[in-house]
Amino acid sequence: MKLAIVQFTPLLGLPEATIEIVKPLMQKCHGADLILLPELANSGYHFESKQQAWDSSEIAGEGIFSCFLKEVAEEQNCTIISGLNEREGDKLYNTAIMVDKNGLIGKYRKLHLFMNEPKFFEPGNLGLPLFDFRGEKIGILICFDWMFPELWRTMALRGASLILHPSNLVLPYAQQVIPSYFITNRIFIATANRTGCERDITFSGRSIISNPKGEYLCMLSPNADEVVIQEIDLSESHNKMITPLNHAFEDRRLDVFPDLGVLK
Ligand code: ACM
Repeated sequence: MKLAIVQFTPLLGLPEATIEIVKPLMQKCHGADLILLPELANSGYHFESKQQAWDSSEIAGEGIFSCFLKEVAEEQNCTIISGLNEREGDKLYNTAIMVDKNGLIGKYRKLHLFMNEPKFFEPGNLGLPLFDFRGEKIGILICFDWMFPELWRTMALRGASLILHPSNLVLPYAQQVIPSYFITNRIFIATANRTGCERDITFSGRSIISNPKGEYLCMLSPNADEVVIQEIDLSESHNKMITPLNHAFEDRRLDVFPDLGVLK
């Protein structure tokens, strides 16, 4: 399959204008089966007020950004995963939606909110769903979720071949830590990060696609709007042998840490 990442700079609080920016970049992804966009791709990140966050939110699958993604999915015969400032009732969530030509397939809501995000968003309440894609399992984490190795491990143990990671990264650490996750879990990881600045925050670009053998297949620039399309074979993630004699999961000494799953 072909996986595309669109790294770009959304316009804070301006979903319509942001669609005009991302549209030509998505057109460069013709031929991709899956397209991944960054966190909060419809609204930008660093809101000045709850009102600004509210005004640029939408109902998943129904708002203008979701409808735009559905049109692209139909035109380009692909599935799209995008960060979304999601409104449900009187609450906002930092969400990632999965959309194809029929509309909304599913969503994940960010579990670990970063810095000021709790002023705007509720913490995720949908657990860690896995989505079927052509017989393989795909998981989603959003940006600061990177900090918690348990999430990556849990999804890998549940059979995820690929973890998609829409992001608005600010700290320098994620790009250093993520290699440990694709190496130790023997899975594919794609991080779609954004570029640009919002007030005192600069986002770090350098979106990546990596494979279960521990190799980067691509890394984008720190500051340019860019698109990459990468051919990957998700079945490579089924091989958990790190040497001919060592299995990434079966070699774990669960007899020594049987309580790991229930540690607070
Ligand atoms: C982040 O979670 N957007 C840093």
